[in-house]
Amino acid sequence: MSRAALHDLHPPVEDLRREVLASLAAEPKKLAPKLFYDVQGSHLFDAITALPEYYPTRTEIGILRGCRDELAELLGPDTVLIESGGGNGIKARLLLDKIDARAYVPIDIARQHLFTAAEALAGDYPDVTVHAVCADFSRPLELPELPEGGRRVAFFPGSSIGNFDANAAIALLERLAGLVGPGGVLLIGVDLVKDKARLTAAYDDVQGVTAEFNRNVLTRLNRELDADFVLERFTHEARYNSDVDRVEMHLVSQVGQQVAVGDTSFNFSAGESIHTENAYKYTPDGFRELAAAAGFDPWREWSDPEGLFAVFLFTC
Ligand code: AVI
Repeated sequence: MSRAALHDLHPPVEDLRREVLASLAAEPKKLAPKLFYDVQGSHLFDAITALPEYYPTRTEIGILRGCRDELAELLGPDTVLIESGGGNGIKARLLLDKIDARAYVPIDIARQHLFTAAEALAGDYPDVTVHAVCADFSRPLELPELPEGGRRVAFFPGSSIGNFDANAAIALLERLAGLVGPGGVLLIGVDLVKDKARLTAAYDDVQGVTAEFNRNVLTRLNRELDADFVLERFTHEARYNSDVDRVEMHLVSQVGQQVAVGDTSFNFSAGESIHTENAYKYTPDGFRELAAAAGFDPWREWSDPEGLFAVFLFTC
């Protein structure tokens, strides 16, 4: 049976501590969305993707199903598919069923989720060399040695690019351009601007799964950084900020309170929030502009009939 090569470049807990202490000392308080993805957070995210309100995943999957034959022709033989946020590998499998790939390189911060999915995928696609890299893809990283020759494809689905502010998004896209090199391409899924009610519902579902996902970051800090957050004292809020076309997720302190993270204490006033995530939404023009700033030229793009979501193929 084929095995995946597993590369563990997960940042050490001291990096996490330093980043969390700085983020909670900032004004306003914040936490980086990558912190959501411990084992429980990754399961909760998978549950979110199946919620009736959370249209992005099923819409993007529909688009990929519809365009993958054309994509296979455009990409040609012997591709190396490099996926940022590889997660459970479902979307990569959709592509690997059609495109001629010699290697697949998923990169994700959620170690257990990534490695389990990569092992299963390697077993199911014996002709594809699988290198799974557990790493923070929002930072520069060095990939394992990959097969030479075929076209490199940076695959960045799920509108995860929306979780980065414009400057960080451009820097990340520039790094992807560097990874695929001349002749390489970027295949990226982007959630589009739409009515506010639909957007906020997607981040505040009636079953409360997104609320649990948001609060789980506090459970993680309690466990990994010896913090003493009382989860019931924080409520989940999804706010649409129409000035900058983004959904914001917040954890709002219900009372005035002091919380310790290891030896450091933080004061919260009643109503004060920890800003845990931005999910920027783009118009097609706005996204092409962002990609152009990172050196990418549009090649093809596909959308769903309602125009909820788009998948772009760029050359660099
Ligand atoms: C991973 N990322 C693209 C998701 C999003 O829609 O921004 C994370 C998420 N947060 C709440 N629901 C889903």
